Amino acid sequence: MSSLEPLQVEIERHFAAGAAAIEDSAAMGAFLALRAALEHGEVRAASPDAAAAAGWRVNAWVKQGILLGFRLGALEVYPGPSLSFVDKHTFPARRFSAADGVRIVPGGSAVRAGAFVARGVVCMPPMYINAGAYVDEGTMVDSHALVGSCAQIGKRVHLSAAAQIGGVLEPVNASPVVIEDDVLVGGNSGVYEGTIVRKGAVLAAGTILTRGTPVFDLVNDQTLRATAELPLIIPENAVVVPGSRAVSKGKGAEWGLSLYAPVIVKYRDDKTGQSTALEELLR
Ligand SMILES: CC(C)(COP(=O)(O)OP(=O)(O)OC[C@H]1O[C@@H](n2cnc3c(N)ncnc32)[C@H](O)[C@@H]1OP(=O)(O)O)[C@@H](O)C(=O)NCCC(=O)NCCS
Repeated sequence: MSSLEPLQVEIERHFAAGAAAIEDSAAMGAFLALRAALEHGEVRAASPDAAAAAGWRVNAWVKQGILLGFRLGALEVYPGPSLSFVDKHTFPARRFSAADGVRIVPGGSAVRAGAFVARGVVCMPPMYINAGAYVDEGTMVDSHALVGSCAQIGKRVHLSAAAQIGGVLEPVNASPVVIEDDVLVGGNSGVYEGTIVRKGAVLAAGTILTRGTPVFDLVNDQTLRATAELPLIIPENAVVVPGSRAVSKGKGAEWGLSLYAPVIVKYRDDKTGQSTALEELLR
């Protein structure tokens, strides 16, 4: 039995209790224990799992626990020097000290309670990391980037300016977005709906990926799509750029329309390495 199993049993019980959990002080205790474990990176909304078809296992009970926190939370004012904020008291903004080894540059950023941010992460303002998210060592979260609830971000990832990583809490068994180690997510990109971006891949600026977006791999002469069982998966080291494709039938063809189409133009090479190299001095 893992040391987390009693916590899992507690969370599942309080989640199943519905509104009755609000009256049960043990429910808040279980939620706060989960929140602390999330912030220490001891539990994750999804974990790498070689036995799972997509290589990642969703921990539905963790997502249930986060939802339990919303059920238990009462609205509270968070006063500031000139601004005020109102949110559930179970999810305040996290506070950091120098000992945490995380740099949060001043100016409009927040990391919500229940998010894990590893040592060496740099957060440029303004950016937001939501509850249940996991951001691993050496990652840069650039200005206007969003790490949505439960999203899993690997080591040395660059989430460029305005990159949007979608979040997912419901349904509880839905996979969160996963960005594996050493990925570059270019400026203004968006990755949503459980998409997995494998190690070392590069999303050029402006690339948008969702469950319904086919991706055209010119190198391997194939089209990548999500299936009923698997999310959209961008292969290791793929370089994806935003493209378009002609609509070939019906009114779309008659009107000369084209649709957005992300294209794998190549797999990472030395030139990509130079284009995406991170500046150590900025870390
Ligand atoms: C993808 C990227 C890293 C370039 O990678 P690269 O390996 O150097 O790519 P190359 O220049 O060799 O280009 C390979 C092919 O893709 C095309 N291509 C490259 N970038 C493209 C883009 N953004 N959009 C469309 N096509 C692109 C090139 O024209 C080339 O095709 P061709 O051989 O037919 O001309 C770069 O375009 C990019 O988007 N960088 C991220 C920028 C960014 O967001 N910075 C963060 C700021 S906070």
